[in-house]
Amino acid sequence: MLTINSCSEQAPVKQEVVQENQEKTGWFSDARYGMFLHWAASCIYGGEISWSRAGDPPDSWHSGGKIDPVLYDDSFKIFNPTEYNPDEWVQLAKDAGMKYMVLTTRHHDGFSMFDTKYSEFKITHPESAYRKWIAGQNPSLNDDEINRKTDLVRQFADAVHKGGLKLGFYYSEPDWVREDYRIALTGRNFKGDSLNAAEQEAAEKAYQDFMYNQLEELTTGYGRVDLIWFDAIKPAHASEIGGKAAVWIDERTLEMLRKNQPGILINDRTGFSPDYVTNELRDTRYIPYLVAESCNKIGDPYWSFSSAGTVKPAQWIIDRLIINAGNNSNLLLNVGPGPDGRIPQMYYQPLLEAGKWLKENAQAFYGTHGGPYLFEKWGYSTFRDNKIFLFIKDAGDGILQLPGINLTLISAKTMSGAVLEFNPLSIIHQPSAFHKLNPK
Ligand code: GLC
Repeated sequence: MLTINSCSEQAPVKQEVVQENQEKTGWFSDARYGMFLHWAASCIYGGEISWSRAGDPPDSWHSGGKIDPVLYDDSFKIFNPTEYNPDEWVQLAKDAGMKYMVLTTRHHDGFSMFDTKYSEFKITHPESAYRKWIAGQNPSLNDDEINRKTDLVRQFADAVHKGGLKLGFYYSEPDWVREDYRIALTGRNFKGDSLNAAEQEAAEKAYQDFMYNQLEELTTGYGRVDLIWFDAIKPAHASEIGGKAAVWIDERTLEMLRKNQPGILINDRTGFSPDYVTNELRDTRYIPYLVAESCNKIGDPYWSFSSAGTVKPAQWIIDRLIINAGNNSNLLLNVGPGPDGRIPQMYYQPLLEAGKWLKENAQAFYGTHGGPYLFEKWGYSTFRDNKIFLFIKDAGDGILQLPGINLTLISAKTMSGAVLEFNPLSIIHQPSAFHKLNPK
């Protein structure tokens, strides 16, 4: 990788690509890298959360998974993450070079990982193994204090705040165990009876009220919340289930969120205009004006903990970081904590190795804008002020031809400081100094 100092009457890329909304989204674009955490009580089975539940999800494009729904829904009676220490998660995120963290507070299976007044299906249920364990550890606490201590989201939020990172909550719009959601989406109840339009509308309103209430809890009871990562599923055969595309939160909920947390960022899965877009399992491709994030997972095959999972190497992470930053996008990299509450050990090495690389190349990454050279064969670029950073995967014969843009180069060097020769628009490089990208 190398850096070029340029001088020009204007910034390397014209003002027009400077994002709107910069004041609000600035921290997010500067952050460039975050940790996504898919965690739910059902991780005890080591299958994909929600999707491993057998039955017939009202909105999915395939029938359910293999775990009996009664067993699945009872996971919380076994799930007991006694080693949960979110300070350790935060430390890992920081060592990896990440600046924000997003936790599943409630996935499609409808289980709340927090102490909510609006559902019994939650981590503070009287039969929750973890709640019982917390109660046993703290015999002098009353019920409210025990619930507070058992609230996994609270512990997470406190640790993220303490660590100085930005806090994000994932929240699923689908809920596969609530009948009002099913009726709202399909016009049928759990027994399969068809309901009329008025009943369907009432169910939708009831479900939206439920989401409103839970989201109010999440944005008033946990301190500063920097973003909500909504997740919706559009049914593959919408017309077969009453024509609805999805059941979204309503506008009133959005207003409430923005009132409770004035700076909050909201992604593009609400049916309303977003603060940023999320590209799932693919790298972002540059679009001017767009504030973007690519979400991807370090582990396979699942988002959540997998008992027989594999992990991608550091180089894969570095490639994603470069490609996305070069396309003016963040990377939200997912890990699936295990049933004991720990992030699996096998994720540490690649995360830390990529973190080491990031530390060495930090100035080419954080707080930069993607470009100005886009879709080039040789690699990717970012810029900040009058510096352009090039991530070169292939400089061919050693002379890099840069497309003409309106600036004058005044110096070029490698990240380790070695000075390079250059003609007005070509740079002569030392191949060994450059980071190499793996072919995908
Ligand atoms: C999909 C999946 C969900 C996962 C999400 C992450 O929407 O349904 O399981 O949480 O992607 O991007």
